[in-house]
Amino acid sequence: MEYPSNISTKLPKVSTTIFSVMSALAKEHNAYNLSQGFPDFEVSPKLIEHVHAEMRAGFNQYAPMEGAIELREQVAIKTEKLYGAHYNPEKEVTITAGGTQALYTAFTATIREEDEVILFTPAYDSYAPAIELCGGKPIYVPLEAPHYKIDWNEVKKLINRRTRMIVINTPHNPTGTIFSADDMAHLESITRDNDIIILSDEVYEHTVLDGFQHQSIARYPKLAERSFIIGSFGKTFNVTGWKVGFCLAPTNLMREFRKVHQYMVFSVNTPIQRAIAEFLKDENNYIHIPDLFQEKRDFFIRALNGSRFKVTPTQGTYFQLLNYSNISDEKDTEFAKRLTVEHKVASIPVSVFYHNPTRDQVLRFCFAKQEETLEKAADILCRL
Ligand SMILES: Cc1ncc(COP(=O)(O)O)c(C=O)c1O
Repeated sequence: MEYPSNISTKLPKVSTTIFSVMSALAKEHNAYNLSQGFPDFEVSPKLIEHVHAEMRAGFNQYAPMEGAIELREQVAIKTEKLYGAHYNPEKEVTITAGGTQALYTAFTATIREEDEVILFTPAYDSYAPAIELCGGKPIYVPLEAPHYKIDWNEVKKLINRRTRMIVINTPHNPTGTIFSADDMAHLESITRDNDIIILSDEVYEHTVLDGFQHQSIARYPKLAERSFIIGSFGKTFNVTGWKVGFCLAPTNLMREFRKVHQYMVFSVNTPIQRAIAEFLKDENNYIHIPDLFQEKRDFFIRALNGSRFKVTPTQGTYFQLLNYSNISDEKDTEFAKRLTVEHKVASIPVSVFYHNPTRDQVLRFCFAKQEETLEKAADILCRL
């Protein structure tokens, strides 16, 4: 069936996301799927049990628009414990249908026609279309492999009276880099004399490796007072299919956020919110998360020993970038497809996260997988 007229698309450059494309290709060719960022191991049975208990206890109707208060309280407690910041659960915490919805809502609530939004690329692919749908203009700052460091002096030059927002993402998807305290000091300095809003995508807050500390915006009061912080329980508790996340923001920003949130989703899955609130009461359920992913990253890198890929160990997230310039001259999009179809290992080509695709020969591999999956995939990669 076709709509019987020309439809003028609002997003002419957008097609199906690379994550859906590569996961479908992996399925079709029965490949080890290290492309999309989701774990293939078991979810905590305790968490599942909490969901059952909430459903059996009858918590199956609409939750409050802002989120179950039990969960908002637990998010505020966790934030204070980890980052020393106080967020009022009544006014400054909202539960969302995952990180992506929280991002979309924050953009929609604040970006107007012609507003400029600074984005560092490679960037998570939902940011730019969301900004464009609001009439805003993404201003791209490309970062260079292999360290993807931000030159804050260059960023400062881009700031003008139209600059409405800067989007940051630490730990960073797809590069696996993390912000340092120095990055935060620069960010504080370039936003000191203006009213720029910061949108801080921290969905991988619990996956900081090598003993580094997560530089949450919440640690920096001067930054926190102008920021939305986005989190994802899907990422934190290995339940990406549940699509539950949260947003933290100062009262007046949150007021605007909720005006959009209430008409976009109204409220989020009640029993799962309550179950996560219960689970968060025990800090052991989140403080050890880095240990698990440290083990997996180290295992994956060890398994790649002797391969022709160049590895810069990831510092955060559950993604490892591998440079294949010693193996092939192909474009990363071509190489990623061939690797899936012919060799049965699926990954994501990093160039798709740029506005102007680079010629970097780098692929992103998700290591949130069982050791057996990682071992088998690495075995194939070592033979290339
Ligand atoms: C950087 C980043 N932000 C946001 C999200 C979305 O999180 P959620 O699955 O909770 O919507 C993802 C998911 O891959 C991500 O990598």
